[in-house]
Amino acid sequence: MDAYQPTLVLPEGPESIAEAARLIRQGLAVAVPTETVYGLAADATDGEAVARIYAAKGRPSFNPLIVHVGSLERAERIALFSDSARDLARRFWPGPLTLVLPLRADSGIASIVTAGLATIALRIPARPAMRDLLEAVGRPLAAPSANASGRLSPTRAEHVLAGLGGLIPLIVNGGPTEHGLESTIVALDRDEARLLRPGPIVDLGISLIPNLSPAIEAPGQLAGHYAPAKPLSLDAVERREGEWLIGFGSVEGDSTLSASGDPVEAAARLFDRLHEADASPAAAIAIAPVPEQGLGAAINDRLRRAAFRQGGE
Ligand code: TXA
Ligand code: MG
Repeated sequence: MDAYQPTLVLPEGPESIAEAARLIRQGLAVAVPTETVYGLAADATDGEAVARIYAAKGRPSFNPLIVHVGSLERAERIALFSDSARDLARRFWPGPLTLVLPLRADSGIASIVTAGLATIALRIPARPAMRDLLEAVGRPLAAPSANASGRLSPTRAEHVLAGLGGLIPLIVNGGPTEHGLESTIVALDRDEARLLRPGPIVDLGISLIPNLSPAIEAPGQLAGHYAPAKPLSLDAVERREGEWLIGFGSVEGDSTLSASGDPVEAAARLFDRLHEADASPAAAIAIAPVPEQGLGAAINDRLRRAAFRQGGE
């Protein structure tokens, strides 16, 4: 686990934004204010950078993250916009509205960002600090709320420091956030628009199907969460007949999560390796054991859910 002693806290301004951009380009995650809550931002095209978000938050599982962009044109290079999606984007962006849309095959977004899903959550933030950072980095930024897993979303730099001090290199301090509440999330990936999370924008001017059932779309257990179509067996140390083996560390396979046994690299590659195995000619998938330490716990949580989903179907 990376350690930073101390975590730098710099006032919002051109210098702190330039420093944040420099750290993000190096593949690190830094905390910045948005108009809703503080976000923990990393380059959404770099799987290992995004894995560091999970490592810092101590998240026990992978949830799909929101990707922040600076323009609608950039957003349309990542997701497919229907007319109604474009209309909502034009009316509410920049602002606290997140749209869940079909992911483009050529998006360039790391698969750990969407946890392997075929949809992606996107928004253009309004807060100048975040917009300047997007401009300075020149890449889409994945950013969940900058709190330790299971804790309240931070609305001040002090909250971020209390939760993530020593675990991230930098917090840009822009004082309290304007809304103090996470963005409204609307899914437009099917025929009807579904409200996935209520938030600062209450009236979207369209009819929404409520979809707040925690069993269906609570973090980490989305109904559509990616699981391979083929049978998946865990803790494999050798390949059996007809299997595609995904290795880790000393267990070599048809592919590997990380030959050096690095959990950050393994997390960054997890969904790519599963998709690759699913698309291979082999009839079944086996995966090597991954130690529970650090991000290993989140990797194993995802693998157990994937194997269990199949067992239950
Ligand atoms: O205001 C906000 O939205 C803040 C700031 C930093 O932008 N971000 C935020 O991110 O709240 P996070 O990661 O804490 O919440 C993301 C939510 C999760 O509940 C996740 O399940 C949902 O968005 N989500 C992301 N991608 C999704 C997808 N493809 N389908 C359904 N839900 C998705
Ligand atoms: Mg959150």
